[in-house]
Amino acid sequence: MDTELFKEKLKEKTIDAERIVKLYLPKEEGNQKKVIEAMNYSILVGGKRIRPVLMKEAYLMFGGDDEKVIGPFMAALEMIHNYSLIHDDLPALDNDEYRRGKKTCHAVYGAGMATIAGDGLLNFAYETAFKAGLSNAKLTDYDGEVNNRILAALQILGKKAGIYGMVGGQCADIEAEKRKDLTREELIFIHENKTGALIEAALMIGALLAGADFKDVQAMEKVGSNVGIAFQIQDDILDVVGDEATLGKPVGSDAKNEKTTYVNLFGIEKSRQDVSNLSNEAVSLLNDLANKKSVDDPFLKDLILSMINRVK
Ligand code: IPE
Ligand code: IPE
Ligand code: MG
Ligand code: MG
Ligand code: MG
Repeated sequence: MDTELFKEKLKEKTIDAERIVKLYLPKEEGNQKKVIEAMNYSILVGGKRIRPVLMKEAYLMFGGDDEKVIGPFMAALEMIHNYSLIHDDLPALDNDEYRRGKKTCHAVYGAGMATIAGDGLLNFAYETAFKAGLSNAKLTDYDGEVNNRILAALQILGKKAGIYGMVGGQCADIEAEKRKDLTREELIFIHENKTGALIEAALMIGALLAGADFKDVQAMEKVGSNVGIAFQIQDDILDVVGDEATLGKPVGSDAKNEKTTYVNLFGIEKSRQDVSNLSNEAVSLLNDLANKKSVDDPFLKDLILSMINRVK
């Protein structure tokens, strides 16, 4: 795809994802107004919205066309992502004061309120995703463990966000602090789970809700795993060589917390090379899928490749 056209489409799709996420945000009212303000502050402050964009793209790729089905899941995933960032920034975790160019949730609302704003977003994500099940959309049976597609999508969302996904990765991430003897395998476990899991969920749920079969959903999981690991390696690179103003979050956070990252294990050059290899492999998996079925999505492939050189 022509670079200008790609940029224009990405902008359009990001605005669309943002519109959808906003539709599902809670109203700032009632005795719980403060926590809802803290939740909405964190989401509305910005962000690339890459996860809902990826989810919608996978949905379109497999022929999905019902916003009442995919919308609640897009919003839910972005809520889970934002809860993870609020907690990740807390003094007890990475202790960072800026995100997306603005003060972090705890810096504005205090650590207590930020903790429950994260909890609030996580719960509200599921309340939101359930709405897809109330949409009365008639979906075909799924050939996975659970044949109802909405239930299967909820199962993936729960698993990938939890102890067998992102939380599991954050656990290993915390335990790895100060460890200089981390193996590549251990670091890949951290990257695939703390970051890859939500990206896998995006691609799997998008495909699944559009009518993909179990094998294709598994193929999308593998694409997501590659993209997710590459995404976190690039995040580690930017934590060293990124521009703070562009990034909107502090560089040097990993060094401050004595994290062992891909960069300090392998150096910048190999890190860059691996981001590129993993991303190209993801695209070739998508090409395999396109050859087997008529599910080609040039935008998705360009999006994955564009992330190799992302600066924020
Ligand atoms: C940041 O995610 C946390 C990681 C998993 C690396 P993003 O880079 O997607 O952050 P936003 O949503 O665009 O701010
Ligand atoms: C965080 O990884 C991944 C999450 C699950 C939140 P980082 O700690 O490297 O993310 P940033 O750099 O703060 O965005
Ligand atoms: Mg962290
Ligand atoms: Mg962090
Ligand atoms: Mg980081």
